[in-house]
Amino acid sequence: MSEINDKIIIGEDVFVPFLTEKEIQSRIKEMAEQISQDYNGKIPIFIGVLNGAFIFLSDLIKNISINCEIDFFKLSSYGDSKISSGNVKLLKELNCDVNGRDIIIVEDIVDSGLSIKFIEEIFSKHTPNSMRVCSLLMKPESLKYDLKIDYIGFKIPGKFVIGYGLDYAQQYRNLKSIYALSEK
Ligand code: IMP
Ligand code: MG
Repeated sequence: MSEINDKIIIGEDVFVPFLTEKEIQSRIKEMAEQISQDYNGKIPIFIGVLNGAFIFLSDLIKNISINCEIDFFKLSSYGDSKISSGNVKLLKELNCDVNGRDIIIVEDIVDSGLSIKFIEEIFSKHTPNSMRVCSLLMKPESLKYDLKIDYIGFKIPGKFVIGYGLDYAQQYRNLKSIYALSEK
């Protein structure tokens, strides 16, 4: 990875700073406060969608002030490309019993909405008490399905972004802030 004047250069692609660590962390605190209020008296299960959501989920629950549990799904759709294959595969099932529970699906980003739609279909075979979706980022212009995202950190334009859990060909997840692909 070469980082020049805050820019990340990957081959011919140039990624520029988009959301700082401070902006991300302060928004996550607000989201966590809201969720803690909304679920007061309940013990929700946060279900992270791997791999992308692991950093967001970790920072989010550190700011949650009520008791909670966590579990993970692992999905794959993008492969190593910047464009979704439109094909979602379940690579890791849940290990908890969601029946009668309040579940919060945690995503790094909702793009076309296909992944969330796929997860909602899985849950339609179970009977959780409630189900909401929480995503750090959302690209409203790219959404192709009729979905309700209950907690959204930032609505962003339809640009490809990396960092803070979001990858390009499985790399750059370790960046503390988020970078967007700049137009050529
Ligand atoms: P969707 O199924 O099209 O909504 O895409 C959701 C998944 O694609 C997310 O969980 C991400 O892992 C990945 N994704 C979507 N947009 C981006 C992006 O801009 N950068 C990196 N990963 C992305
Ligand atoms: Mg991903």
